[in-house]
Amino acid sequence: MPGIGQVGHVVAVASGKGGVGKTTVAINLALGLAALGLRVGLLDADVYGPSVPVMLGIRAEPERKEGVLVPVEKLGLRIMSLGFLVDEAQPVIWRGPMVSRALREFLDQVEWGRLDCLVVDLPPGTGDASITVAKSIPAAKVVMVTTPQPVAVAEVRRAIRLFRRLGNPVLGIVENLAGFRPAPGMEPIAIFGAGGGEILSRETGIPLLGSVPIDVRLRTAADGGVPIVAADPENPASRVLASVARTVALELAPREAPHTLQ
Ligand SMILES: Nc1ncnc2c1ncn2[C@@H]1O[C@H](COP(=O)(O)OP(=O)(O)OP(=O)(O)O)[C@@H](O)[C@H]1O
Ligand SMILES: [Mg+2]
Repeated sequence: MPGIGQVGHVVAVASGKGGVGKTTVAINLALGLAALGLRVGLLDADVYGPSVPVMLGIRAEPERKEGVLVPVEKLGLRIMSLGFLVDEAQPVIWRGPMVSRALREFLDQVEWGRLDCLVVDLPPGTGDASITVAKSIPAAKVVMVTTPQPVAVAEVRRAIRLFRRLGNPVLGIVENLAGFRPAPGMEPIAIFGAGGGEILSRETGIPLLGSVPIDVRLRTAADGGVPIVAADPENPASRVLASVARTVALELAPREAPHTLQ
């Protein structure tokens, strides 16, 4: 049976705006959850700029079996991306209704199988894709990504309000692009400011799950198709991302014995 009928939890990674690291968080969160022993799927629902295939170095096309799409397997994840279906060289221009239709097709026609958790990488903003996911999966929980700039939190705040209004609980906030440490032991430089995650967390009562530093290795690993938590688990950014995954796993299964999640 295609669809998400056998998916235990859906966690959507969202933000108010673009380029803040949603895809980075979504991929590394998915891998972090898989490392805890969960069966995890990853849906790249960014219809405007699907980047999951590039960041995971996937060149294979998904198989189609009688109209059902079979996810591509990589690093233990089951992955489906709009990027598999559109020509890379073609600009992706979608109008609202097409976005909703494409997403419904993904949700309904993909052979996700049994999954503990499906992580969804949403496009930036509070547009059709976000709303479609929220409406199609009322139980979807949200992880919000923000930058540390206090003046940049307004859009994220708006997105949090939207999800709450739609009835999608926001599990936590991840601050990305936090202080850059030029060398171990040196003071971090707050290139994109500081405090945004904490401000949002205080205002909304939503926990701050972690603050991921700017890290050149994270970027080069992503460009090379191997996410940082897989390429270099001891990297400071990897440690934060792995810890975010542990907290999310505990939120999803609050009664599960902690030793099974360590
Ligand atoms: N903490 C970080 N340190 C260094 N580079 C980072 C960090 N987080 C993200 N990047 C890099 O910044 C770029 C944008 O990140 P990403 O694609 O995850 O953002 P996004 O919010 O998904 O963007 P979009 O809105 O376009 O979907 C990528 O090249 C990524 O590797
Ligand atoms: Mg993205």
